[in-house]
Parts: sequence; structure tokens; C-alpha cells
Amino acid sequence: MSLKVNFYAAKFEDWKLLLDWRNDELARKNSLINMDVIEEEAHKKWLKATLENPDRRIYLAYKTGDKIGTVRFDRNGSSWEMSWNLAPEFRGRGLGKELVREACLFFPGNLTAQIKEDNVASIEAAKYAGLRNVGKKGLITLWELKKENHNA
Ligand SMILES: CC(C)(COP(=O)(O)OP(=O)(O)OC[C@H]1O[C@@H](n2cnc3c(N)ncnc32)[C@H](O)[C@@H]1OP(=O)(O)O)[C@@H](O)C(=O)NCCC(=O)NCCS
Repeated sequence: MSLKVNFYAAKFEDWKLLLDWRNDELARKNSLINMDVIEEEAHKKWLKATLENPDRRIYLAYKTGDKIGTVRFDRNGSSWEMSWNLAPEFRGRGLGKELVREACLFFPGNLTAQIKEDNVASIEAAKYAGLRNVGKKGLITLWELKKENHNA
């Protein structure tokens, strides 16, 4: 059994896990756009549209049989904007760093990320994964990872 973090493309049946993780307090606090609790019907509608959207990819991360979190990539010109969320019960033991690092290795494309400046664990994870800080927009720090031979 592999010990590293792996990924599979999210399926509609993952909706409940994704909703629970999305509505977790820390995930909402660190969200860039909408910090409100999302209702079940709105979430299902969003997930269905997401799974049909060629410019958005959403994956479940797993390790030794446990579903541990999610990572999403949104096409933005010639690169993909990534965001991540580790299930609350798996936080605080280095898995967030592995999740982000393995996601960067696994996904074929140039990457960017936006992280609130007080989201220290995510900033540490981004650095560990090789993302480079390229600036700041208000309270949001901007990150990128350019890979050789890759256009989106
Ligand atoms: C961000 C997230 C993935 C990090 O996962 P995690 O497993 O809790 O973090 P890790 O254990 O891998 O820790 C990452 C690093 O940050 C450090 N860290 C974590 N919280 C910290 C804090 N409050 N202050 C200082 N350092 C902190 C850890 O010590 C670790 O560094 P180290 O290995 O050098 O000790 C997870 O907390 C999460 O899913 N948060 C909610 C969603 C979110 O913020 N998404 C990102 C939106 S851009």
C-alpha cells in the first residue's frame, strides 16, 4: 500500500464529504470569496456544474485508504489556480504540506495560489511544495509554480 498522498477525480457521490470540509470553520475563515455556510442544495448544484466544467478540476486526496482532503484547480489563462482543504481530523501533523506538494507534482500545468496572509499553515505548505511568493494583493499573498515544458 502506498504511503504517499494520492488523488482521484471527485465524483458526485463525494458531495457530503466535500460539503462537510467546505463548511468547517477554519476552511470558511480561510476562504477567499465566500465565508458563509453553504447549504446542501446549493453545494450539490455547484458540484454538478464543477464536474461538467472543463476549466475546473477537483480531486479527492487519499492516503492509506483514508480520504484526507481535496484540491481544486481552476484554469486562469495559461496557468491553473489551485486551492486545497485538508479534512479537519487530519490537520496539524504535516499532512497539509504533503497534500499540497503531491498535488503540485501530480497536476500537469503551471500553478498559482492565493493565500490570506494569516493562513500560516497554508503559506508553509505552499513554500514546502515549491510555490514562489510573487507578491501581495491587500491581505492576500500571491504564489506561483512554473514548470518547464508546460503550458496549460
Ligand atoms: C492549510 C492546511 C492544508 C494545512 O494543513 P496542516 O496539516 O494543518 O498543516 P501542516 O501540519 O502540514 O503544517 C504546515 C506547516 O505550518 C506550520 N503551522 C501550522 N499552523 C501554524 C501556525 N498557526 N503558526 C505557525 N506555523 C504553523 C506547521 O508547523 C508546519 O510547518 P513545519 O512542518 O515546518 O512545522 C489545513 O490547515 C487546512 O486545510 N486548512 C483549511 C483550508 C485552507 O486554509 N485552505 C487553503 C486556502 S488558500
